Amino acid sequence: MTKNGNNSAAAFLPESHDLESLRDAAAGCEGCGLFRDATRTVFGEGAERARYMLVGEQPGDQEDRQGHPFVGPAGRVLDRGLDEAGIDRDEVYVTNAVKHFSFTDRGKRRIHKKPTAAEIDACRPWLEAELAAVRPEVVVVLGATAARSLLGRAFRVTERRGEPMPMGEALAVATVHPSAVLRAPDRDAAYAGFLADLRIAAGAVHRTR
Ligand code: URA
Repeated sequence: MTKNGNNSAAAFLPESHDLESLRDAAAGCEGCGLFRDATRTVFGEGAERARYMLVGEQPGDQEDRQGHPFVGPAGRVLDRGLDEAGIDRDEVYVTNAVKHFSFTDRGKRRIHKKPTAAEIDACRPWLEAELAAVRPEVVVVLGATAARSLLGRAFRVTERRGEPMPMGEALAVATVHPSAVLRAPDRDAAYAGFLADLRIAAGAVHRTR
């Protein structure tokens, strides 16, 4: 619950919306219940004026422990894809639709739990503020949770992946989440599709210039 009783991060946003102020304020966010069990807020990271913004679902176990987005197994798939698509890390800002790790305790293991629609909606003010601060040329939407947050609940990644779509001043390109590549029965085929979508995103950045 927020200070005003709503399920939203809105009341925690600082007056100044530069990335540093946003990151500092997000560290104290209690806009939904996830802050209670997560170790910390994992805010977005990357270049202040990045040309690409990559939006994932939520921090995983490693991200929650280390405090940085995409540093676990999914991050390794993402790094490889960016490299092979020719997307320069210096031009990338990486973040998540939800900034706290959502999980179920199974003994010593913490099993990833998909964030609810209410948690995605509650966290959207941070994502919107990041978009406004970075003003990327291309937004890469990684999987269904990011798509729900940015493109609406009716959007289907499977139907519209790899298709540049106007999103404010930017172009959005949706693709599967890198974790889905790791879980796919045919990992090579899933990775090839993911890479093809990233290459479309890399091409789209030039078209917005
Ligand atoms: N999955 C995500 O969506 N984001 C991360 O930061 C890590 C795994």
